[in-house]
Amino acid sequence: MADARSKKSNEPFAAILRLVVTVAAIVFSVFGPFSSSAMAQATGNRATFPKNFDGYVHYATYDRGSSREEAFATRETLEIAKSGRPLPPGTQLVLGIWADYKLTGYFVMEKGVDWGLSIPEEQRTGDWHFQQFDTNMQVSRTAFAERCQSCHGSQADNDFMFTTDRMRAYVP
Ligand code: HEC
Repeated sequence: MADARSKKSNEPFAAILRLVVTVAAIVFSVFGPFSSSAMAQATGNRATFPKNFDGYVHYATYDRGSSREEAFATRETLEIAKSGRPLPPGTQLVLGIWADYKLTGYFVMEKGVDWGLSIPEEQRTGDWHFQQFDTNMQVSRTAFAERCQSCHGSQADNDFMFTTDRMRAYVP
């Protein structure tokens, strides 16, 4: 008697357990891949602000009245660009963004070995990653890397850069 009762009272519990396991499996199969790809997106952008920015050379200014852009690279990068050789992995380029006569932040593009592989092929810009930083050199995401990449993508024949001519023309 007691056995039958306890068996009976366990049945709803077992049913709930089965339901929980099933729901968990569905939730995981639906959202698992999604959340892991979202994580890959969040961690996939490896462009960082250069630690040695103090040593960077200001090689070009794009003055558009109240807005202005200032391009920076290392001396070594400028020498390589002048020589016509491709910029190697590890290269970081910085663009200072000015609006209303004030510095509002920095755009950075950085090249790493096989970094392109973490970006869908149709958005890929070689092995360059793009990132926006605030004036304290902290990552800020008011502009998304996909936009940077779609515009710089037009420069595929020029290793995705716009300022190569200015690098070559720069005289210290
Ligand atoms: C609508 C087109 C467009 C978008 C979007 C854009 N750029 Fe650019 N970028 C340019 C142009 C054009 C230049 C050359 C400077 C100029 O004319 O202002 C440039 C220059 C640069 C440079 C200097 C090195 C070089 O020669 O390319 C860096 C670094 C850069 N951009 C990073 C970024 C980042 C990071 C983003 C996104 C947060 C971004 N850009 C979004 C068009 C764009």
